[in-house]
Amino acid sequence: MATVRGKFVTFEGCDGCGKSTQLKMLSEYLTKNNIPHIFTREPGGGKISEAIREILLNGKNSEMTDECEALLYAASRVQHLSDRVEPALAEGKLVICDRYVDSSLAYQAYARGLGRDFVTKINAFALEKYLPDVTVFIDLTPEAAFLRKHGADENDRLEQAGMAFHKRVYEGYKALAKEEPNRVICVDGTKTPDGVFADVLEILKKYGCL
Ligand code: TYD
Repeated sequence: MATVRGKFVTFEGCDGCGKSTQLKMLSEYLTKNNIPHIFTREPGGGKISEAIREILLNGKNSEMTDECEALLYAASRVQHLSDRVEPALAEGKLVICDRYVDSSLAYQAYARGLGRDFVTKINAFALEKYLPDVTVFIDLTPEAAFLRKHGADENDRLEQAGMAFHKRVYEGYKALAKEEPNRVICVDGTKTPDGVFADVLEILKKYGCL
C-alpha cells in the first residue's frame, strides 16, 4: 500500500512570542504519543541551509542588501525543502517547521518594505509546491513580548528603533492571517504556555495532523 503523505505544519510569530516553548511542548507530546515526525527550522535545517543561516544571522554582514537577504532566505528554503521536508513528507511523517515562507512575507516583504510581488516571486517554489497544510501564528504583539522579557523599565529609546521594525513584522503577520484564514491560524499568545498549547493541539487535531 502506498504511504500516505505526511502533513506539513509551520509555526510563526514575532521574536519572543513563545514559539520555542510551544515547539518544545509539542516535541514532548509527539514523542510520548509515538507520532512519527520531524522537527526542523528555517533558516537552516541541513548542511547547505545551515551555512546560509550563518551568513544571514552573522552580525558582521550588516552591509547585506535587503534583496540579497530575501534571496538567501529563499535559497535556503528551496534546499531545505529538498533535503529534509520532502523526504519526511514522502515517508508519511508529520513535519513541524519553525518558521517558513510566511516569515519572508512578514519580515522581508512587509517589515523591510520589499513588497509582496518580489518576495512572492522569489518564493514561488515554496508557495506553489509546498504550501503548509496549516500555519500556527502565535499572536503576541512585539510590545507584549518585550515587556515579558525585560519588564517595563528597560523599554528605552534604543529599543524603540527596533520596535518599529517588529511592529511592522507583526502587522504583516496579521495581514497574512486575514488573507488566508483557512491556513494561517492565530493563537492567543497572551495565554499561559499550557493555555496556548491546548489551542495548538486543537488546531493540529482539526487539520488532521494528530
Ligand atoms: P532565530 O534565531 O531562529 O529566531 P527565532 O527563535 O525568533 O525563530 O532567527 C531567525 C530570524 O530570521 C528571525 O529574526 C526571523 C528571521 N527570518 C526572516 O527574516 N525571514 C525568513 O524567511 C525566516 C525564515 C526568518
